Amino acid sequence: MKFVVKNSCLVQPAEATWNGVMALTEFDQIGAITHPPTLYFYRPSETWLAQEEIMFTTLRDSLSRILVHFYPLAGRLRWLDGGRLELECNGEGVALIQVESDATLDDLGDLSLSPHFHHLSPKINYKAPIEEIPLLFVQLTKFKCGGIALSHALSHAVVDGQSAFHFASEWARLARGESLGKAPFLDRKLLRAGDPPSAQPCFDNEWNEPPVLITQPGSENDEIRNKGNAVAMLKLTKKQVEMLKNEANRTKSSYIDDGDHRMFSRYESVTAHIWRCACKARGHVYEQPTGVGISVDIRKRVEPPLPQTYFGNATTSVIATDCAGDVVTKPSGYAASRIRQAINKVSSAYVHSTLDNLKNLKDFTGLQDIHAMELEASERMFVGNPNLWVSSWTTLALNGLDFGWGNEMYMSPGPHDGDGESLTLPGQDGDGSMVVALHLQAAHIEDFKKFFYQTI
Ligand code: COA
Repeated sequence: MKFVVKNSCLVQPAEATWNGVMALTEFDQIGAITHPPTLYFYRPSETWLAQEEIMFTTLRDSLSRILVHFYPLAGRLRWLDGGRLELECNGEGVALIQVESDATLDDLGDLSLSPHFHHLSPKINYKAPIEEIPLLFVQLTKFKCGGIALSHALSHAVVDGQSAFHFASEWARLARGESLGKAPFLDRKLLRAGDPPSAQPCFDNEWNEPPVLITQPGSENDEIRNKGNAVAMLKLTKKQVEMLKNEANRTKSSYIDDGDHRMFSRYESVTAHIWRCACKARGHVYEQPTGVGISVDIRKRVEPPLPQTYFGNATTSVIATDCAGDVVTKPSGYAASRIRQAINKVSSAYVHSTLDNLKNLKDFTGLQDIHAMELEASERMFVGNPNLWVSSWTTLALNGLDFGWGNEMYMSPGPHDGDGESLTLPGQDGDGSMVVALHLQAAHIEDFKKFFYQTI
């Protein structure tokens, strides 16, 4: 299968935009500086296919117009002392790449699991100086059959998932000839740390020392980490989701305070199930400590709340921990309650103490994945076995991205490959079904699937 770059260009905002340095928040400074990719597959109509170049120019022109509103994406990052970053809004532009393949969409087989995904997402050279790396990459891949794949990858140092999908849906609106729906809220000062930051923050730093395998000490842990991972896209029908939700809620009152009347959500119930199945598939002993990392959107949790359209990183992470034996042997309502308790920690005070704690940090280099890439496996913060990371994309506006040639036939989160990294996605048809995108060490994936579907 061949993939050949036919065209690539930088796209600048269609009009002059604000120039200057935009201070990033503490939440922009931590974690991923890479560009998580997302993939959309389309089978455009004959009319579109007859005008192949029009697709590229439609994307390029609408991109140029949407960047007038989302102009921070056209800027560049710059390192400051202590591994902090700032964003220079300079309108340099975003990368648009056109690729042609001699394959058909059908040659990719099951789109959810294709090993060719890495050809369909932009290749980004992180060895280049950061001032030269665009914050948004878009790749349009055209297949011999006329099908296309569109991948967009936004720098996580600048936006979170909510903002990335907000951008994509507004871009599609302009491409379809509609006007802007919801303008992004660009003022990041709303998420500023205290000045001066408080001296005794109650920041939760559990991921600094994540649980490790107690039966595989030292170097054997490293060996396990370096074994290959496998991916699974696990579909749950609406009925199966309801079954998991009912099962978790059946015992909720045994584990959750009387004051919390909210039912366990689909995310909490499904994540509890994933956690239980991972512990079983990994064959943990009863006492094995294990954790689930959770990204929490703070827009509605801070006082005063941030606008829903806040454009930036407005998520923080918490971890639910327990011993594998309790996770597996107690009813799923127990694991769900541990997840609920972790999420409930994220109050406005928690967010502000996190901001203050980060502001007090002198050196950020250990917290950023771009530096982590240079470390040996044993030196990296590790979220794999016996841990998981389950991000919720359940309520993000992922589906129905129509640039004028119809909705996608399939949307995929694109290649993510760390052991234990998983996502909960809404089903493609908006029918209440869900998909769990899961990465696990290859040796555990088949057992995981068996446990996952065994009781539902
Ligand atoms: N549209 C539709 N339904 C929504 C919604 C929205 N925008 N926001 C919340 N809901 C629904 C949820 O689906 C859930 O209903 P359910 O029981 O039928 O599933 C209910 O309201 C409660 O939602 P929420 O309070 O968000 O709890 P949760 O358990 O579903 O999710 C978190 C918990 C922490 C994962 C979630 O609050 C969150 O922060 N999500 C965003 C994560 C994120 O940013 N991901 C990208 C990472 S880069």
